[in-house]
Amino acid sequence: MWGGRFRLQPGAVMAQINASIGFDRRLYRQDIAASKAHAAMLAKTGIITAQDAKSIARGLDTILAEIDAGKFVFKRALEDIHMNVESRLAELIGPAAGRLHTARSRNDQVATDFRLWIRDWLDGIDAALAAYQRVLAEKALQHAATVMPGFTHLQPAQPVTFGHHLLAYVEMAARDRGRFSDARKRLNESPLGAAALAGTSFPIDRAMTAKALGFARPMANSLDAVADRDFVLETLAACAIAAVHLSRLAEEIVIWSSPLFGFVRLSDRFATGSSIMPQKRNPDAAELVRAKSGRVFGALMALLAVMKGLPLAYQKDMQEDKEGAFDALGALVLSVDAMTGMVRDLAPDATRMRRAAGEGFSTATDLADWLVRTLKLPFREAHRVTGRIVAKATDAGVPLEKLPLEALRSIEPRITKAVFGVLSVDSSVKSRAVYGGTAPHRVRAQAKAWLRKLSETA
Ligand code: ARG
Repeated sequence: MWGGRFRLQPGAVMAQINASIGFDRRLYRQDIAASKAHAAMLAKTGIITAQDAKSIARGLDTILAEIDAGKFVFKRALEDIHMNVESRLAELIGPAAGRLHTARSRNDQVATDFRLWIRDWLDGIDAALAAYQRVLAEKALQHAATVMPGFTHLQPAQPVTFGHHLLAYVEMAARDRGRFSDARKRLNESPLGAAALAGTSFPIDRAMTAKALGFARPMANSLDAVADRDFVLETLAACAIAAVHLSRLAEEIVIWSSPLFGFVRLSDRFATGSSIMPQKRNPDAAELVRAKSGRVFGALMALLAVMKGLPLAYQKDMQEDKEGAFDALGALVLSVDAMTGMVRDLAPDATRMRRAAGEGFSTATDLADWLVRTLKLPFREAHRVTGRIVAKATDAGVPLEKLPLEALRSIEPRITKAVFGVLSVDSSVKSRAVYGGTAPHRVRAQAKAWLRKLSETA
């Protein structure tokens, strides 16, 4: 394709390091769509004949069908997807194929193809995250009143509801979807027509190809159009944050499903056995979701390093943008799908959760709040009094609500038996009725609002 001024073939190692067909063949659908849009525009502007445009379009359709059917022979000597397609086009339709590359370069071509590919991926991840949110919200609604320990420092802190805990992840996924949709907006401009770097002298219509490919507009600067990979970086950055969120729930599932906690049981569909220990039910899927975040961070770091300090405009370094992105984006979709399945099947053990929710004097804050509300103690003083009561309960080896009233009164004589009304885990969660709080009716309302919103936008 570019051999005009060369006398020798590339060396074997050169061919190996240079070729991208091994991975950029995944862009074939986008490459063909962009070529069809380009050919139609070339005909419309009178740069090529309608006749040639027609045979080009027909040839490209044939190639698409060949690749879809697995019948296309990819050749490494042709370097990349762009030249593989063009070379096959020449075999199919003859010299007219040579007119397709008028007023364009592989530099604007690859930028266009990869934008289109990432755009499709962004639409897919949005749907996957919406499905994940839906199973979380459904489970949250079911368990709006199922109490469990809430933790800080992984120490029992205050009772919360399982539904409330799950809805926290719905919020995270909503922000992730927001970041992906922002990335999509900025991504959705067409590089096509920037050609190699400076634009073209042919009277092309960039708005026409942009529109045909669903882009909002052509990119305004040809150098930027071929040199920019922000759309990959931004997507990977959003992926990295989403992967952090998934890894946190994955870690919680690992902890909760340990028999030492026994808060949840994973379904057989998402657990594995051990080849030596017959009793085991391992949370492999959750562990792998936790681990796959590493690939996603790695891909982001790798591409930042590739792009850092690159002079304008296109540099071959940028061919290294694809493998890591394909790998990371694939890992993220798989992780979301696995989490969706795990959450859907997750069976909480409400009895164990409830028992654990009362452990570690988890309603001590409720006692302190009662002292503030009923006896008008300043909160700091109430905190001190409660601390002494907790110490007493620790010495007696009983939970707060099992301390006799006299024991409480020996520390603060004005305490009445009404205090026992706030020491249960149920009254504790019920009392946290502030907007955003863990009270069952709040959780129910939030879960319903999410389910409504998710079905409206589905
Ligand atoms: N395979 C190349 C890439 O992925 C396509 C662009 C090649 N451009 C060039 N001037 N050699 O970046």
